[in-house]
Amino acid sequence: MLALFAGISLLSRVAAQSVTTYPPYAVSGDSTVQFTLESNGFDAPKVNFYNSTSAQWWYFDVVSNDLSQSAVISFLDNAPGATGSPSGVLPFNFIEVNLQLSSGQQISLQVSGQWVILTSEGDGLSGVFNGSGYSWTGASDLSSYTVTLDDTANELSGTIQLNSDAPYHASCGTATPGASLLVSDQLGWANSIPDGTAIVDLTYNGLPIKYTGRGYHDSNWGSMPLEIMGTYYWGHARFGPYAVVWFDMLDTEGVEHQLGYVSENGKILANSCGSITVRPTGANSTYPPNANQSPTGFHILYDMGDAGIFELNATNTAVIQIEPPLYMRWVGSVVGGIQGKETYEGVSLYEWMIGYSGPLP
Ligand SMILES: *[C@@H]1O[C@H](CO)[C@@H](O)[C@H](O)[C@H]1NC(C)=O
Ligand SMILES: *[C@@H]1O[C@H](CO)[C@@H](O)[C@H](O)[C@H]1NC(C)=O
Ligand SMILES: *[C@@H]1O[C@H](CO)[C@@H](O)[C@H](O)[C@H]1NC(C)=O
Ligand SMILES: *[C@@H]1O[C@H](CO)[C@@H](O)[C@H](O)[C@H]1NC(C)=O
Repeated sequence: MLALFAGISLLSRVAAQSVTTYPPYAVSGDSTVQFTLESNGFDAPKVNFYNSTSAQWWYFDVVSNDLSQSAVISFLDNAPGATGSPSGVLPFNFIEVNLQLSSGQQISLQVSGQWVILTSEGDGLSGVFNGSGYSWTGASDLSSYTVTLDDTANELSGTIQLNSDAPYHASCGTATPGASLLVSDQLGWANSIPDGTAIVDLTYNGLPIKYTGRGYHDSNWGSMPLEIMGTYYWGHARFGPYAVVWFDMLDTEGVEHQLGYVSENGKILANSCGSITVRPTGANSTYPPNANQSPTGFHILYDMGDAGIFELNATNTAVIQIEPPLYMRWVGSVVGGIQGKETYEGVSLYEWMIGYSGPLP
């Protein structure tokens, strides 16, 4: 690990940068894993080094305003550890790309990275996965992020820019020092851009992919594979003045962890835990979910206390990733708002994962 402090004089402002490098292999020993927010470094690395079971990943997505296109890019540090897959199946440092094209075609790319260089400044983070052609830069106040793709092997290049329209937040409240970043006992979560205006400008095999839509960015981390932590529903939506993020996880002890966030016109309206339920709807919508059962949508009910009761219905319009029988991701249309007030329609991107505690099926 290398820490350097570059003093940059800009209108008497001094920006401190911290650079961390991670090798493309596990290091033995006990990692130090941070689950409490410090005074800065909201999107910074939370694991000091990766042993075979500790991992962190940075996630970006975009859904077009007409739901016909989407892009999801995940940068994983210790992908085998994060996913619990047997060693040798996935590269250690790994980029996963899923593109939904307007033609209906789905593109799925897996790319390996060499060393990972992460530079944090203020609350923002920039990352380079060496040798992959994939990197991103983040503003120190989390107001904008740009993911840059220069993947010559897959003939995919260009940028995805996210301009934040909703304040970042801790798990159950505002992002103040000391706030918890836990989803459950073992899973960390930092949601840097709950909702933003996204500008996609890519070229894939000579085909231009250009659209605007809603974007999102977060990071998760922990010291055990996600799959053995439990079953969850997660997603985000934008409709009218509202941006919503939900995370409803049922851990392996049978405890439900409910995390809700709603912003209105760029200001946080509610951000709390324990009073949001996310349930599948339509055919095949048992709860907790069973493997291979795909619902047609989700119903989200969030008691925001004095701010009212928020209700949202999401209806799947396309499956954008599927790893049967454990994982699915969709884009969908949403309708909802505060009960008794005006309702709005909009767009959403969401997923579920069915956890397990035994060997891979
Ligand atoms: C990795 O580090 C975590 C956190 O310190 C620890 O709980 C875990 O046992 C370590 N894993 C290995 C394989 O050493
Ligand atoms: C990343 O790649 C560049 C260019 O190949 C190289 O100069 C640099 O040393 C690499 N950094 C690490 C940490 O591997
Ligand atoms: C429910 O799931 C089963 C497979 O598990 C599938 O054959 C069936 O078509 C689904 N029903 C609906 C209405 O989607
Ligand atoms: C959501 O769907 C349920 C079931 O169809 C319906 O009762 C409810 O009114 C819908 N809510 C909104 C906000 O559309």
